[in-house]
Amino acid sequence: MATTTPVRTIHSIINDIGFVGHSLISISDLSDDQLYGLFELAKTLEPWNRSKIDLFPGAILGLLFFQPSTRTRMSFETAITRLGGKALVETNPEKTSSIAKEESLEDMMRCVCQYANVIVLRHYDDQAARSAAAVSTSPIINGGWGHWEHPTQALLDLYAMWRTFGHIKDLTVCVAAADMVEARTGHSMAYGLARLGAKIILASRSDRRTPPEVMAKLKDEFGVVPEEVLDSNQDSFNELVSGVDLIYLPGCSAPKGATSDFYRTIMDDYYVRAETLEAVRNSGRDIYITHTLPRRAGEMDLRIDDTDSQLCFRSISHSVNIRMALVASILGL
Ligand code: CP
Repeated sequence: MATTTPVRTIHSIINDIGFVGHSLISISDLSDDQLYGLFELAKTLEPWNRSKIDLFPGAILGLLFFQPSTRTRMSFETAITRLGGKALVETNPEKTSSIAKEESLEDMMRCVCQYANVIVLRHYDDQAARSAAAVSTSPIINGGWGHWEHPTQALLDLYAMWRTFGHIKDLTVCVAAADMVEARTGHSMAYGLARLGAKIILASRSDRRTPPEVMAKLKDEFGVVPEEVLDSNQDSFNELVSGVDLIYLPGCSAPKGATSDFYRTIMDDYYVRAETLEAVRNSGRDIYITHTLPRRAGEMDLRIDDTDSQLCFRSISHSVNIRMALVASILGL
């Protein structure tokens, strides 16, 4: 007689993840079992990606964004709405909240945690964010802190990888940015890949290489010493990436203006040509590229957007249900 896999309830998946009441400050706060549990929950919740499942009526998700955002803020807002709760959104706190009247971030947090069951905080200063998170009585989700980490973007990208390849272990991923110091998503992704057993290549300029504390954490916490490839030019970079399964471009959070203009010139060395990926696919092997977005003009060969290798926008199709899964696993049923 054929055996059948029992269908697990949302309640049992959330219970098994064991993250109720927890904060997500770093992607490394999640064990491999918890990551796979979140993937299973996200897949289970996918049918409600564009409708509604009233799991948490009355729940409030606070969204405090001290830096601009399209994807992180809107996908969390959509996620809590799909789960039957509501979002409390502050998109410009330095102008429209009492931060403008010199209130401290800690005092703001002491109050907002009385309204919101969970708070997503994006902030340009990771130390300030950490201090504010420490005084909150509601769980905090790091929505991107300084140059340090952006764990929910990595969670989304790991989930998209899992959905694309069916596994993550033993895949080779090149995390590449001219400036890996400011690539907070790159740091989180490297930890997540290490946690799930992928092979990691870190590519950057030597004067902006992956920070020593990130390398130390990869070694001490995960026993991983990634290959580092420094000072590529466009040809050598294209040769390097033609051997990997996924090219991961964490981009740069440089604002518009002179910094951005400089960044654009150095990104040219990390420009993946559509022909490179086409040659790999023609050899019979799958290869993918994703950019965590927003991408700047000139950072990516836009011809890739119309090929099977493009993962940037396909990942976005998962961003609501993976964030529903995260919020549900923290709220508990
Ligand atoms: N990837 C990402 O964090 O995008 P936003 O800055 O638009 O949220």
